[in-house]
Amino acid sequence: MSDNTISSRLYPTRIDIPAEARVQIVVLLNQTLAATLDLKTQAKQAHWNVKGTDFYQLHELFDELAGELEEYVDMVAERVTALGGYAFGTARAAAANSILPEYPLDILDGKDHVTALSDRFALYAKHIRQAIAKTDELGDADTADLYTEISRTIDKRLWFLEAHLQVAEIKAENGKAGTTKTQKIPAGVK
Ligand SMILES: [Fe+2]
Repeated sequence: MSDNTISSRLYPTRIDIPAEARVQIVVLLNQTLAATLDLKTQAKQAHWNVKGTDFYQLHELFDELAGELEEYVDMVAERVTALGGYAFGTARAAAANSILPEYPLDILDGKDHVTALSDRFALYAKHIRQAIAKTDELGDADTADLYTEISRTIDKRLWFLEAHLQVAEIKAENGKAGTTKTQKIPAGVK
C-alpha cells in the first residue's frame, strides 16, 4: 500500500470479526481491488485495439471480461468498507498497488492479446486462490466466499482465453505440424 497508516486504519463498526483480522483482510482486499481495476482496464485495452480475422469475437469477449471485472471491483471495494476499512479505488492507487505487469501497449494481433491476457488472468487467478485460503485462515468465511465466487469465474475465463492458444501450443510442443495429441501424463502423476 502506498499509505500504510490509512490502509490499516479502521472505522468503528459493530461487526464481530476482530480488528486484528480485519486489518489484514482489508490490506489483502485493497491489493485485489488494485489488481482487478488494472486487469479490467487491460481487458478494455485489448477490446479497443485487437485486430485480425477473429476481430469481432475477441472484441466482444474482451468486453465481457472487462464487464465481469467491473462487477468484482465493486464487490471487493464494498467488502473493504463493510469491514470498516478504506477502499483504495482510484486509477493511481491501482497503478501503484497492482501485482500485475503493465499491458503491452503496442500489440494488435488477436493471438498476442489473448496471450497477454492469459498471462495476466493466470496471475490474477493465483492471487485470488491464495486469498481464499488466507481469509479462511483469518476466520472470515464471507470474504473467502467472495473470493471463491471470483475464482470460479476467473478459472473459466482463463479456459476461454487459453482455448484460443492450446492447439498451437500443443503442436509446438510436439514439434510436428498437424499433431494435436496432448502430452502423455508422466508416470507417478495421478
Ligand atoms: Fe466498446
